[in-house]
Amino acid sequence: MEVKLQSGAAGALAADLLIVGIFNQEKILDVLKTMDKLDQAFVAQLATMAAEDGFAGRLGQQLVLPTYGKTPFKRLMLFGLGAEADVTLSTYRKLGILISKKITALNNAQATATHNQDKAAAKKNVKASVVKNTAVKTISLLMRSAVAKSVSKPVTATVKKDKGEAVPVKKTLDGADCLSSLVEAWILSSFNFAKYKTKEDDKRAAANSSTNCVLHVMSLDLNAAQIKRAVFTATAMAEATNMARELIAEPPAVMTPTRLAQAAVKIAADNGLSCKILEPEQVKKLGMGAFLGVARGAKEPLRLIVLKYNAAKTKKTIGLIGKGITFDSGGLSLKTAVGMEHMKYDMAGAAAVLAAMQIIAKLKPDVSVLAVMAATENMPGSAALHPGDVLTSMNGKTIEVNNTDAEGRLVLADAITYALREGADEIIDIATLTGAVVSALGRVAAGIMGSNQKLVNAVIESGARSGEQFWQLPLFPEYKDALKSDIADLKNAGSRGEAGSSAAGMFLKEFAEGKPWAHLDIAGMAWLDRERDEFCKGGTGFGARTLVNYVLSQGQKSS
Ligand code: BES
Ligand code: MN
Ligand code: ZN
Repeated sequence: MEVKLQSGAAGALAADLLIVGIFNQEKILDVLKTMDKLDQAFVAQLATMAAEDGFAGRLGQQLVLPTYGKTPFKRLMLFGLGAEADVTLSTYRKLGILISKKITALNNAQATATHNQDKAAAKKNVKASVVKNTAVKTISLLMRSAVAKSVSKPVTATVKKDKGEAVPVKKTLDGADCLSSLVEAWILSSFNFAKYKTKEDDKRAAANSSTNCVLHVMSLDLNAAQIKRAVFTATAMAEATNMARELIAEPPAVMTPTRLAQAAVKIAADNGLSCKILEPEQVKKLGMGAFLGVARGAKEPLRLIVLKYNAAKTKKTIGLIGKGITFDSGGLSLKTAVGMEHMKYDMAGAAAVLAAMQIIAKLKPDVSVLAVMAATENMPGSAALHPGDVLTSMNGKTIEVNNTDAEGRLVLADAITYALREGADEIIDIATLTGAVVSALGRVAAGIMGSNQKLVNAVIESGARSGEQFWQLPLFPEYKDALKSDIADLKNAGSRGEAGSSAAGMFLKEFAEGKPWAHLDIAGMAWLDRERDEFCKGGTGFGARTLVNYVLSQGQKSS
């Protein structure tokens, strides 16, 4: 989507569509009247028509009216924003989704009609008479933020304070954030992975994306610089998240550790990040015995993917660690067929980190970021780990592998150690780590754990800005008992069915070496079995935007 800023009269621009949000019970005419250079009598007719059609500005209401050549824009698209006092960022997200879906529907209807007429005409050997290329190509958006009045329900998140009680955090709504949320949801909602489809209908639908347009943004309360920054941020966030979704969508035979590393090399080259890819030999030299152990059963070679964003001025280096299991069969502790079905998404943590790095490179915060992704398959080949094997991790701790399906924590342990040795001052790891977190929180919130409450709270608040929800799970010292091994320093899996996510967190904590550390378990959130909000079925790219918001909060820059 190409976005332009439009100053002056909102309705003066020649466009296929003019989009206007209307608050509940607001007089449509009052809003439309603000657009001068319009035929006011006709505008009054439009307003009357909308009212007669029952349009009252209720949240999610929508109406498209043709303008029969009486205005510079071909259609007026009205959307209900709901009561102004109830508006939150999620209202604007909803609006972005509705806009995207409506435009996609208009484009598809048009494209299908053209296609069918062409086919019919070809059969009769006559020329098709239909008007072509009427897809929505130019759009004006009159951005209306709910900032004029005090807003009662702004960004909220629930975090735990010192004494452990949960308290909601509120931040006031900002007009630029409203615009960002709208654009972000629009682009996320337009995602369509049709690469492996061969039917014409499917390919046409993918080609008619709602972002295939030029968007002109007009706003009464935001200046050009604010609009520019908001749109730039939103576009960077959503496009990178969609990139992560593409990586996740690829079949596991395609998205191997080698291919994931190639994707990282390209992202680094395109965005001016430094990049290092370590192969098995180098990983062996570093003594990453836990990572190497997991990779032993696979024919595909492992890759340690390292990206670095060096800030010009920086106080610290944030380490982002991603689990990159490109397929998790469970290894010799083999999963069931059902349990294995979607295990190509076990690299979603790494995909989120890659996406985050792409965005960070574009937004250039004043804090350095080191990204480490451990990429390998978890397979039951003849050289595979046996349950009972003992591995020596990079930091010297020995691990008895009692379950080869608890492979994520093994690769993360060495990746965390690597990041600490490379100078990371704090660590955030993100991983599709446990089925237990899906049981506990479903596909509604990700689990978060950590050694430092300030860091955990900051990540939870960063998530709320993008509508990504987290819920903190405990790391009670007793959970460590489940990881006691008879012959090694610890074992990798606790007792089945007992606080699996916390046990995994406890295991990782052993490798954070006392540095501030947070662990995001996205096993539930990284994948949806059915469409929800801006996400279609499949990978969601969950976590990328949260990581970026956190990094931005630590390296705030006045644009
Ligand atoms: N990748 C899985 C976790 C997972 C499960 C992600 C379901 C997404 C959906 C992880 O490697 C795993 O297998 N974890 C085991 C740990 C157990 C053996 C201690 C699990 O959760 O069953
Ligand atoms: Mn596993
Ligand atoms: Zn796994």
